[in-house]
Formats: sequence, C-alpha cells, structure tokens
Amino acid sequence: MERLQKVIANSGYTSRRNAEKLISEGRVSVNGEIICEQGVKVNSSDVILIDGVELNKNEKKVYYLLNKPRGYISSVKDEKGRKTVVDLIDTDLRIYPIGRLDYNTTGIILLTNDGDFANHLMHPKNNIKKTYLAKIEGILSKEDIVKLKQGIVIDDRKVDTSNFKIKKKDLEKNNSLVEITIIEGRNHIIKNIFSSLKHDVIKLTRTNYSFLDVKDLKSGEYRELSIKEVKKLFSE
Ligand code: URA
Repeated sequence: MERLQKVIANSGYTSRRNAEKLISEGRVSVNGEIICEQGVKVNSSDVILIDGVELNKNEKKVYYLLNKPRGYISSVKDEKGRKTVVDLIDTDLRIYPIGRLDYNTTGIILLTNDGDFANHLMHPKNNIKKTYLAKIEGILSKEDIVKLKQGIVIDDRKVDTSNFKIKKKDLEKNNSLVEITIIEGRNHIIKNIFSSLKHDVIKLTRTNYSFLDVKDLKSGEYRELSIKEVKKLFSE
C-alpha cells in the first residue's frame, strides 16, 4: 500500500506537490470514489482516475537537460499562451520543469516526468547547488560584500550567499558581473538577493545545476540525462 499522492507522482503524471493539489481539488477518484483528503493509501490493483481519465502507473521515466532561452516560462502550460520550456522538448510524455527560471532568465533547467526525482532535487535538505551569473546595475560596495558574506535575509529566512565572485566591474557603464552559488530554490531568489542590496539584476543565467552545465548545448537545445547522471543526482 502506498499513499495516493506518491503513486500519482511515481507514475510520472505530475510532482507530488501538484498531486496533493489535484486531490484537494476533488479531481482524483479511487475505484469510483472521489478522494479529497491527503494520505489515503492505495494498492496496485486500485483504479485511479484523474479528471475522469485512468492514471497509467507505468509510464516510462524521462530526464532532460535544457539550455533555456529568454522568453519561455518554466511551466507546463501558460494561461496567457506564452511559450513554455516544455514546448521545446519533443516528447508525448507529461514532463514538467524541476523548479523555475524566470521568463527572461536563461540557462540550465531539468525536466522530467519522475515525481520522486523532482522531489529529491527540490528538497532543501539535499543541498543541490545552483550557480548563477548575474549582470547587475552598479558596483558592489564594501558593505554589500560584507552583507553577502554574512548571508541575506529574504522573507524572514536567511540565504547563504557567501559563495560569490565578482567577475567583472564596468565603471563606465556602471554595472557588474557576479557569479553566485546557492542552495536555495525560492522563486526570484537571485533578484531578491541583489534588490535587497539595491542593485537590480539586468541579466541572469544559470550556469550550473549540481555537477551539470549546458556548455555543449546552444540556447534552446536539450539532451537526455544519462543513467549515470540520473543516479548521481539521486544520490546527492
Ligand atoms: N533567481 C531569480 O531571481 N530568477 C531566476 O530565474 C532564478 C533564480
């Protein structure tokens, strides 16, 4: 017996968090009965329907690494009809991005239909490092540098921002290039870190996700992860 949300996530239908949402919205039934509470246990012979369609519990698991271009949103569908990162991948499976890059942020993003994998990578306790290159307005002052070394509080929670390097300072154009590695995955985190220091982010790219990079992929290109890479990420 396994928890319903776990079975849905394991099937590759969606992430566990989203499965919980589907359940509380009353969109999931087990053997004909709508289930709205979390934690209900099911077994392999139970028939699970989502929006009236039977869940295929044995979908093939896929793992993609994409070099995200500007102008794409990191979700499966967009209410405003904008292009999504999923549109760039040629598959019929229900994949979704792991975490989020903003519409105009470029660089490395993973997509999968494996809920356990997505959960593993998004869980803060697994300390997955993400490196960003941020072009910011202005030049960091000595005080800014001290604050970054000490960590920055965003929405009452401290972010470890101590792992950063100033790669370039353009005094004429009054901007800088800063490389920063963090574990945090909150939305807009890099922009919020620099805006708390009164520096707007002009351009943002994510260059590394754990041991992965997208140096061999042009903007908009993607590849499947190898089994070795998937196993390594699962063991991080
Ligand atoms: N932090 C941001 O501010 N934006 C991103 O796209 C990713 C991290």
